[in-house]
Amino acid sequence: MIPYCSICWDVDKVKLLDQRRLPAEELYLEITDYHEVIDAIRTLAIRGAPAIGVAAAMGAALGALSLDTADGKEFQSRFQVICREIAAARPTAVNLFWALDRVLLVAQAHKAESVEAIKGHLVAEAQTMLKEDETINRRMAQAGQVLIREGHRVLTHCNTGALATGAYGTALGVLRAAWEAGKRFSVWVDETRPLLQGARLTTWELGKLGIPYTLIPDGAAATLMHQGKVDLVILGADRIAANGDTANKIGTYSVAVLAHHHGIPFYVAAPLSTFDFTIPDGNHIPVEERAPEEVTHLWGQAVAPAGAQALNLAFDVTPNELIAGIITEKGIMEPPFASSLKPYRPGQS
Ligand code: MRU
Repeated sequence: MIPYCSICWDVDKVKLLDQRRLPAEELYLEITDYHEVIDAIRTLAIRGAPAIGVAAAMGAALGALSLDTADGKEFQSRFQVICREIAAARPTAVNLFWALDRVLLVAQAHKAESVEAIKGHLVAEAQTMLKEDETINRRMAQAGQVLIREGHRVLTHCNTGALATGAYGTALGVLRAAWEAGKRFSVWVDETRPLLQGARLTTWELGKLGIPYTLIPDGAAATLMHQGKVDLVILGADRIAANGDTANKIGTYSVAVLAHHHGIPFYVAAPLSTFDFTIPDGNHIPVEERAPEEVTHLWGQAVAPAGAQALNLAFDVTPNELIAGIITEKGIMEPPFASSLKPYRPGQS
């Protein structure tokens, strides 16, 4: 048992672990206003693609509860506005839009019922999405753990554990399942500049799981690979195009190129909710650009001269040809991804 959760629904409010404060402090925010959910997503109090999806659904449910009308038509149109506001929180992780599409469909499907009843359905749907996320992650972890062998040294980037999801994790879930199956291995954790999700969050989670790890500066991965000290790379995704091109935390593409150069298998772990089959390739993935201050400052302290120009792209896109496989809840998809993913496109039987 892991005594923390990224997000949950508590009667009429959302409780989420404020990841901005980790690892120094475990503080849960209690939120009743959907605007605060938007703020939490924007400021990375909650982050990681699947967790953002659950937060969006719960935020939409809070928004629905706040609507003071009994008129069905008015409710639907105001609910759509709320969903559009939430959709603007962050652009890259497709789980955000996937979750909002799902709650909008629920609201529409029950439009003949009373507003009170629709609100109940929306709250229930958000909770179902949280539960489903854990089930999916556990399936994905079982599918992927076969890749981990005794003594492996696995490199990961950013954070993909229970914190980044509803529960259990994606890439970190794969490691967790392998550990729970009795395999013994170790993990190289990229610190993940500029916001240090690896240093602050992945180390925190691996420590709680009892999985041995070593934290490294992002720039050390090349040397470790050259020295033959990395057997496998597994990390997560924020959006995967129909051809397998994968957007993930900035620095992922560098790791993929390095792994390719050194002949090290590079795997992505992500649920089907992270796939965007509406776009043919990674060129169509919107990459979030965040405030330059996240690069020029650390904890409010300047690490660059005043006025220094900085570019803060939050994600990059790894071309599919660098990916050995994509671990999903339906098994490990292998290249060519356009055909291995085809059965999972919406509308395919
Ligand atoms: O900016 P973040 O912290 O939301 O970015 C998160 C990542 O890039 C994760 O690697 C990705 O969402 C996979 S989460 C299971």
